[in-house]
Amino acid sequence: ALVRREDYLAPTHWIRGVDLTFELEGHKTLVISRLQVEPNPERAGEALRLDGEDIVLTRVLVNGESVSFRFEAGQLVLDKLPAEPFALEIRNTCAPEKNTQLSGLYTSGGNFFTQCEAQGFRRITYFLDRPDVMSVYRVTLRADARAFPVLLSNGNLVEQGTLENGRHYAVWSDPHPKPSYLFALVAGNLVCREQKIRARSGRDHLLQVYVRAGDLEKTEHAMNSLIASVAWDEARFGLSLDLERFMIVAVSDFNMGAMENKGLNIFNTKFVLANPATATDIDFGNVEAVVGHEYFHNWTGNRITCRDWFQLSLKEGLTVYRDQEFSQDMAGEASARAVKRIEDVRQLRQIQFVEDAGPMAHPVRPDSYQAIDNFYTATVYEKGAEVVRMMATLVGRAGFRAGMDLYFARHDGQAVTCDDFAQAIADANPGSALATRLDGFKRWYSQSGTPRLQATSHFDAEAGTFTLTLSQSALPSPGQPVKQAFVIPVAVGLVGRDGRALALQLEGEAPSGDTERVLVLDTERQTFVFTGLTGLDGVPVPSLLRGFSAPVVLDWTAADEQLLTLLAHDSDAFNRWEAGQRLALDRMLQALRGEQPVALDAALAGALRAVLDEPTLDAAFKELVLTLPSEAYVAERLAESGQAVDPQRIHAVREGLRAELARQLQPQWEAAWAAHGDTGGYRPDALGAGRRALANQALHMLVLQSVASGDAAWPGRAYQRVKDASNMTDRLGALSALVQAHHPLAEPALAHFHALFRGEALVIDKWFTLQALACEHEGRVFERIRALAGHADFTLRNPNRARSLLMAMTQNPAAFHRGDGAGYAFWSAQVLAIDPINPQLASRLARALDRWRALAEPLRAAAQAAIERVAAHPDLSPDTREIVTRALAD
Ligand code: ARG
Ligand code: ZN
Repeated sequence: ALVRREDYLAPTHWIRGVDLTFELEGHKTLVISRLQVEPNPERAGEALRLDGEDIVLTRVLVNGESVSFRFEAGQLVLDKLPAEPFALEIRNTCAPEKNTQLSGLYTSGGNFFTQCEAQGFRRITYFLDRPDVMSVYRVTLRADARAFPVLLSNGNLVEQGTLENGRHYAVWSDPHPKPSYLFALVAGNLVCREQKIRARSGRDHLLQVYVRAGDLEKTEHAMNSLIASVAWDEARFGLSLDLERFMIVAVSDFNMGAMENKGLNIFNTKFVLANPATATDIDFGNVEAVVGHEYFHNWTGNRITCRDWFQLSLKEGLTVYRDQEFSQDMAGEASARAVKRIEDVRQLRQIQFVEDAGPMAHPVRPDSYQAIDNFYTATVYEKGAEVVRMMATLVGRAGFRAGMDLYFARHDGQAVTCDDFAQAIADANPGSALATRLDGFKRWYSQSGTPRLQATSHFDAEAGTFTLTLSQSALPSPGQPVKQAFVIPVAVGLVGRDGRALALQLEGEAPSGDTERVLVLDTERQTFVFTGLTGLDGVPVPSLLRGFSAPVVLDWTAADEQLLTLLAHDSDAFNRWEAGQRLALDRMLQALRGEQPVALDAALAGALRAVLDEPTLDAAFKELVLTLPSEAYVAERLAESGQAVDPQRIHAVREGLRAELARQLQPQWEAAWAAHGDTGGYRPDALGAGRRALANQALHMLVLQSVASGDAAWPGRAYQRVKDASNMTDRLGALSALVQAHHPLAEPALAHFHALFRGEALVIDKWFTLQALACEHEGRVFERIRALAGHADFTLRNPNRARSLLMAMTQNPAAFHRGDGAGYAFWSAQVLAIDPINPQLASRLARALDRWRALAEPLRAAAQAAIERVAAHPDLSPDTREIVTRALAD
């Protein structure tokens, strides 16, 4: 059924207290729920309708007496209830071992775990399963003592002891009222790393990370990240840990990344476990980011939560913004901060922009949904974070902090809306660029689609004026044929032809000496005039949208020489990188339009050589500059300009340019390898990670070039490194270099790697992914993927493993979008196979063909047929049904 934001009604009843008892058994768990219910006077006399799913009711008592009840539309309905507060007791059972959806109470590796966001609690017991019903919980867990020595729930442990028949129990009490989606329990055979800390506030806290026995030596980084998160939130936002005990538990079967349950975060093992032998630098960075993210939810999400699920970005956008800032602060130096920003923007453009242009486009605050789990999207998370970032830009760093303070002063303990958040930030900054345009700004919450920002400029050397005209437009998106103007903060600078940063003085303003300004475009079109620019040597180059100050497509016609100036000199590292990407992208687009074969011309090759040769630049930054825009990004640029997308041609063009990079820059690659190929002892810091990234990129290039030239030395070195590397980043990089180049040594290297890590699930996932992402060559990669689906280690029941092969395949355009449609046929079969097991996982995979309408024929027709094949299935889950229905709607 379609749920609409405008239909929101406060609940008929409040549930103030929840007392749960679990008699844990894998095949059948008994749940006794004792609720303190209070009718909401606003909705006096209405029936109480409790959500429930896949559970069996055994008894209902009101104030200790049995009552009549009925089931309607999947809900348990109690019609005749007291008008005063009353006690409601419900008994029901559920079957954790049969719960393959991994929502609610389920087992993984013989242990019990829960996942309740968004609507899993109703799969545990009947409840008002909505985020605006907040209650204080007391939880009793009873289970076999030998099999389940550890019994955890939210809050504080208040009692434990032994029972008959080898069972034991624990009682947990959480003093903070919370919505049901933040409830959690864990029962199992686990060990933990723990650490006591004294916070700045002077309070003592116990931090714990629970894992399976063999994984304890992979928990140090997660613990360090947690300690750093606690310190960061105190220092940056004045927010302290409000619990005596904070626990993280790792589980290997998990639908998403992690979950911020109050005091008991549950994590996908992928985002907890890390040691140098099994995890890459990227994994270390992800662990830090996700540990931070879930910890920061304790305030932005838990203390202040969402009134309804349409407000999801209230907590997710804000918390992503906070984790991005945390990672930047942890990276330290300005250049490392810029690297993190570039990586975040790359993700945003590759995933969120594509989403915003397709059938699943929705506002940051959606207006309707069929399955809320489908709206845990890049738009709600990443674009939502950009919206928060723009607010911070408009009110300044101190202003944003004041706004956050006001937000907590007003709303701590409440379930609120995105409007409440924006209002608090604006009210704390009266007169600011945000407060004076708040209504217009909030269109970022209500309008979907990525706006296009056009920029043109004119320089009058004699008058010393630089005139910049900015205008905006937005294409229609589902349900939104016309858009109103967005409020777009545009950070700008001017770079002289000699590379100097010029002082910016707006017409009519006193000179300030500032070399960067944030212009605010809040209408269709606006002109800004900078003055005092006399005596310059040549036309200055505008550096627009610095730091990616707004989530828009920048449409600025730039000459190569302007971009080369920015690439060489811009003081804004983001735009320096962006200039290099534009230069490469323009060449690929020219080739794709058939204007000329793809070539690495002397000017661009020279500029890229200069970047690699520049001793003062970070290795991490060099690696980003030298990475060509991805095939997905190129495809989206084509689609946006109305051209049909042929992934095979994009692949060929990009590979052609990559081969030229390998060939023409060979001395630079050799030098990079010599400088960074051995980073010494492993430390997962930004500097070392950057050096390893550049070394691995160099190795890829050198192996690629060796294959072309028939030289055996570099493949031999890579093979040796697969065997004797001292960390996973180097080992995987070397393996990838051989696999990407389709070198004969790739096969023995893959076999060696698999044998080394047979028992390490997360590493075997990498082994699958690496093969699924290999550079497609004569259809061999796709054939390999299809064969790997039958490998003894492959299973659809473990989400990480399923994703490691199948999601990876959909991210390999040339392998997936085959001319004969075999990729699509395989995809539809996998979606249909997963859907009855795990709808959330199936519906994510189902989104892989969202952009089918942009494809060139015959791919377009083949993709449509594949989606129709899925849609024709009568018993699809609501999750997958929503995705394919939207994909096929016109
Ligand atoms: N709140 C979690 C996070 O962002 C995500 C949980 C989403 N779960 C789901 N089934 N949709 O950290
Ligand atoms: Zn989150």
